[in-house]
Amino acid sequence: MNPAAVSPVMETDRLVLREHREQDARSILELFGDTEVVRHFGMKPISSLNAAEQMIKYFRKNSREAGLTRWAVALKSEDAVVGSVFYTNIEKPYFRAEIGFLLNRSYWGRGIMKEAAERVISFGFEQMSLNRIQALVSVDNRRSVSLIERLGFSKEGVLREHSFNYVEKRFEDMYAFALLARDHKKTEREP
Ligand SMILES: CC(C)(COP(=O)(O)OP(=O)(O)OC[C@H]1O[C@@H](n2cnc3c(N)ncnc32)[C@H](O)[C@@H]1OP(=O)(O)O)[C@@H](O)C(=O)NCCC(=O)NCCS
Repeated sequence: MNPAAVSPVMETDRLVLREHREQDARSILELFGDTEVVRHFGMKPISSLNAAEQMIKYFRKNSREAGLTRWAVALKSEDAVVGSVFYTNIEKPYFRAEIGFLLNRSYWGRGIMKEAAERVISFGFEQMSLNRIQALVSVDNRRSVSLIERLGFSKEGVLREHSFNYVEKRFEDMYAFALLARDHKKTEREP
């Protein structure tokens, strides 16, 4: 399927969310080339435009062949791609998926990812028929924990040594968070 159909264009006040495109390579290099941004994904930062281009090809292939939804987060004001937000481990028979996100460090602290994730979460419940959206967040990832809590997710426990961080060569404990469709509906009704 065309990636634009899997991850359709969506708008919020400040943002356009759309599929990743070949011409985003420079922004993707800036994003995935930052050690601080990728460290909790346990990966090494990328360091060339070619690696960024390969990454975009991989995202698009995943959308086309595996139906994995992933949006580039573009700022309307600057026409620049500053982040990426996605669903992974999509388990259609169980109506659940896992959300993940990353944002260029120069744009942290402005509520941009909260705005993007809220839109993607609504899409997940309303268009993908999800019942449960999960998030696994490293216990050391303060900003991500703060964001996921502000998005209304409940902490369900700690998965001890769940991930292996290949860069730091250590196991990481992860918080298991989830948001259910019925809880999301409730918060939407609140003023
Ligand atoms: C996780 C990550 C996306 C969070 O970015 P962020 O900018 O902190 O997230 P938010 O969009 O929620 O912004 C919150 C901040 O914006 C501020 N803010 C400013 N304007 C705002 C607005 N209009 N609405 C909401 N918050 C606003 C908040 O007060 C908060 O500031 P603080 O951090 O000083 O408390 C980012 O840190 C990141 O990319 N980390 C690396 C990748 C990663 O680890 N991903 C998660 C793996 S599971």
